Amino acid sequence: HRRLRIALLGAGSVGSQVARLLLENTDELADRSGAALELAGIAVRDVTAPRDVDLPAELLTTDAETLIVGSDIVIELIGGIEPAREYLLQALNSGADVVTGNKALLATHGSEIFDAADQVGASVYYEAAVAGAIPIIRPLRDSLAGDRVDRIVGIVNGTSNYILDRMDLEGADMAEIVADAQRLGYAEADPTADVEGFDAAQKAAILASLAFHTTVPLDAVHREGISGITKQMMDAARHAGYVIKMVAVCERLTGRGTASDGEAISVRVYPALIRREHPLASVHGVNNAVFVQAEAAGNLMFYGAGAGGVQTASAVLGDVVSAARRHIAGGAGVGESTRANLPTVDIGQVVTRY
Ligand code: HSE
Repeated sequence: HRRLRIALLGAGSVGSQVARLLLENTDELADRSGAALELAGIAVRDVTAPRDVDLPAELLTTDAETLIVGSDIVIELIGGIEPAREYLLQALNSGADVVTGNKALLATHGSEIFDAADQVGASVYYEAAVAGAIPIIRPLRDSLAGDRVDRIVGIVNGTSNYILDRMDLEGADMAEIVADAQRLGYAEADPTADVEGFDAAQKAAILASLAFHTTVPLDAVHREGISGITKQMMDAARHAGYVIKMVAVCERLTGRGTASDGEAISVRVYPALIRREHPLASVHGVNNAVFVQAEAAGNLMFYGAGAGGVQTASAVLGDVVSAARRHIAGGAGVGESTRANLPTVDIGQVVTRY
């Protein structure tokens, strides 16, 4: 096998599982990708920090910049804007393909990252950025590329779903449940991102951009979190035959008397009353579900673990194999997962609508 040099940035709940799987499954991954995937190093902030997985000490480094040099594939699982953005740009400019789970970065600086990739013919893979283990980026980008997506309704934040579910079932205290979600590796470093809908809004912006072939800025996403939801509200909802779930809705508003030139879309995240019979009402715990309504395909549903280290690592490794295959096929110059592959339509405005 040809050898590909892999740099991993970040060894948190997802990163440490990615490292473990890369080291444990070397033969299988080599067979699937057609290349030996050599984990050259793991960049972390503190080499002595406690981790979910015991990682070989000789792979740990605090020098991400040096690790990136000469790498074929850079996996970024640090999260946040800086220094993740700097590292990704460095990686792309040096010709590496990039695999990232960084929804905050893609939702705010996606254009800059995709432009940088396009300029050098590199690819950006980000299946892990939305809905954990669930394949949703490829379906929207590839499988549905010949269709017209009209609407997406999803539960795209595992932590908030876990919180609402436990409040509903046990009447437990929100702070206590949040602490459990952090311990289980579901929550963001700052769980406010989960509870207040920032994480879901980032994912909604990414999904809407892909589905509608445009760039939906994060600040155009209406956002309302679940911190105001009480046990009393949940009980009242239940008595009326509903359950409260935090949903992300992305939809075209064509033909509804909105934008006259171009199309208008609406992207919003908020706690919604869902009828108990609706399939979204049965999405429990840390699971996510994404419903996609497309003109020709009709209704599609994607369901599974929306957070969790090892589950999300599955999506990362799938991207690593895709990136490796492209390297082996000599695909340089054809950015596979970048915006450049998408037809760009001009959507008139993004409106907020309840
Ligand atoms: N904190 C996120 C969630 C992790 O709970 O959904 C997955 O993106």
